[in-house]
Amino acid sequence: MTNFSKILAMLLLACSLVVGSAGQDVATNEPSLRFVFMTDLHARTEWETPAALARAAAAINEEGPDLVVVGGDLITDGFQSSAASVEPRWDAYLAMQKLIAAPVWAAIGNHDLVAAIPEDGTAPAADPRGIFRAKLDVEETYRSFDTNGYHFILLDSIRVIGGNLKYEGRIVPEQLEWLKTDLRKVDTNTPIVLVTHMPFLTTFFQETEGGLANAPKNRIIVNGPETLRLFRNHNLILVLQGHTHINELIRTRDITYITGGAVCGKWWRGDWFGTQEGFGVVTLRGNKVEWDYQGYGWTARRPEGE
Ligand SMILES: [Fe+2]
Repeated sequence: MTNFSKILAMLLLACSLVVGSAGQDVATNEPSLRFVFMTDLHARTEWETPAALARAAAAINEEGPDLVVVGGDLITDGFQSSAASVEPRWDAYLAMQKLIAAPVWAAIGNHDLVAAIPEDGTAPAADPRGIFRAKLDVEETYRSFDTNGYHFILLDSIRVIGGNLKYEGRIVPEQLEWLKTDLRKVDTNTPIVLVTHMPFLTTFFQETEGGLANAPKNRIIVNGPETLRLFRNHNLILVLQGHTHINELIRTRDITYITGGAVCGKWWRGDWFGTQEGFGVVTLRGNKVEWDYQGYGWTARRPEGE
């Protein structure tokens, strides 16, 4: 080997140690993945919010993630509105999604059900999830996919109940059956990431209302333990959640629960309990989870009282 080819070989080796093969950590031979989790965009057209969404998309692209996972509430107030009135909000969301270079996988939030219980006198939709499925071009609101050695499951955590609370967080029986079938196809060692709009676990109510405060049933998944028991013989490492708009990380036993703040912050009014308008970068190495929440430099323009 000539000196030149020796140097070239060393350089190539050094490069491969840094970059590694796609989706694998060379040092440990474990799977790895770096992606963005953004949630609660509440896309709409007022107060220059489409410009905010474009800025968020640019900041996400700068991170160069392998993919982007969305935790629901893509648009705002679909639940109590007619389909026609929220059409521009879907346009605003989809315009932002188009700006994102990486593949996008989105879970459904309560605001993304359209005309579930309309407040303008129009008839409720026969299927309030139909527009979400059509806009995102997906067959079902709950689904799964595999990438870089990880199994991702997106849940539909909303159940319409009417009354004062209007909806609750619940994984309904039909979906639990689907989940059992899905998990049968997943190797017991494969790290699993679960994505849900309603949280399985949050400290938000104890933190803001007092140590004895419970989450009301429209703020949490009421059958969380029943659902998580299905993962008993699997390697669930991470649960990504939305809904409360706070940036929160809870690690209990071997599972990390992250609530991913909100792209819209306090519904476009600035920060919410100290969480600014932003998104997070998740780095997975084997079963290890790192989380870095960051703002994208937006100053709220929603006027007082609106
Ligand atoms: Fe939300």
